[in-house]
Amino acid sequence: MKIYRANLIDTPTPKGFRILEHGYIVVRDNGTIEGRYASLPDTFRDVEVIDFGDRLLIPAFNDLHVHAPQYRNLGLALDLELLPWLETYTFPEEAKFADLTYAKYIYRRFVHELWMQGTMRSAVFATSHYAATRCLADIFIQAGMGAMVGQVGMNRNCPNNLANHTNELVQGIAELKTYLDEHGNGLVSPIVTPRFVPSCTDDMLAALGQVAHDYNLPVQSHLSENPSEVAWVKQLEPEASCYGDAYNRYGLFGQQPTLMAHCCHSDGEELEMIKRNGVVVVHCPMSNSNLASGVAPIRRFLNEGIWVALGTDVSGGHNMSMLRAIQYAIQVSKGQYAQTNHAMPFLTAAEAFYLATKAGGAFFGKVGCFEPDYAFDALLVDDTYLNYNNYTMQQRMERYIYLGDDRDIRRRFCAGKELCEPVM
Ligand code: GUN
Ligand code: FE
Repeated sequence: MKIYRANLIDTPTPKGFRILEHGYIVVRDNGTIEGRYASLPDTFRDVEVIDFGDRLLIPAFNDLHVHAPQYRNLGLALDLELLPWLETYTFPEEAKFADLTYAKYIYRRFVHELWMQGTMRSAVFATSHYAATRCLADIFIQAGMGAMVGQVGMNRNCPNNLANHTNELVQGIAELKTYLDEHGNGLVSPIVTPRFVPSCTDDMLAALGQVAHDYNLPVQSHLSENPSEVAWVKQLEPEASCYGDAYNRYGLFGQQPTLMAHCCHSDGEELEMIKRNGVVVVHCPMSNSNLASGVAPIRRFLNEGIWVALGTDVSGGHNMSMLRAIQYAIQVSKGQYAQTNHAMPFLTAAEAFYLATKAGGAFFGKVGCFEPDYAFDALLVDDTYLNYNNYTMQQRMERYIYLGDDRDIRRRFCAGKELCEPVM
């Protein structure tokens, strides 16, 4: 058992920050939270208290959509829209991951930066290469961080050196699962990852739906990100009633827990299908701004009861920090608020923080806040330089969200364990 004392701040609901000044949080040996207390109950009298003084202890971040092999392209190549961006910049970079030495070099840096930014769990696209994907999973295991890692499926409209064979991909997913079941730490697992409909033939989509079902695996992909992409899918899949239906027909749309990134242009029947099937929308506002994709109507999704999480979508997103994703989510929602004549109320800081912690964490189980039985995933934040004038706790949190960065994080915990800096 471990007991930490700090200013405890989390968002068990999107309604606001829950603040416990100089509170105690008790963490069991299995890494889950026993409880949080204003004063320490007698039962814990004999346990040493680790006192973090006036610092903030917050839930760690969860990035529900990020491309590890695009790490080297961060901040580059944002002068095109999605489809030419993929062709010109993204596919050539991903093709390099056939070389395992290169993969290891980049993936170590990628995981190191997730650690730096306080993102303790992530849903990650690797590339279409099995060996490099397994290497990425190994790096996460060594780091002690949680991740769902997807070998990317693609077999059409892409360069030959990135295309994979459906049966080899299915075999790769099965192998990665066996490998992680045997050698993993319970925090890293595979996720079925068709890149998006334009990259996958019906045969591949059908096989991936089958493998997700057979091995009881979650699914992640992209949906209705960009108008040219949506039009292209209509052409490629004339039988599907909407873009989402092209996944749904093959069991890739909520039949297993499913993440769909973007949904900037989802409405009508697609929106109904998302709702009905319990598909998780991953909002990636940095990427949607950079690639001029559009703005996802997040307020509308939330009003409809749709589960929304947050992602960086690096390198469509230009920054690995979930603080930046939170900021963008708030700011683009304010643009929508203004443009809809206030019909769509903007996201509050607490709501966006909730998306980045508890809403995303729920995809991994009980993760993302400080309630009993939740995994202790936490960041110790030292905001001394921001807090020079008796700000309230609420104000300190707002200032950290807008002005803070990785330098403010003093300690990182995942599933109860403090994680030291991973090898780069
Ligand atoms: N759609 C298909 N592939 C990608 C990708 O790598 N990034 C983004 N943002 N959208 C995609
Ligand atoms: Fe993406």
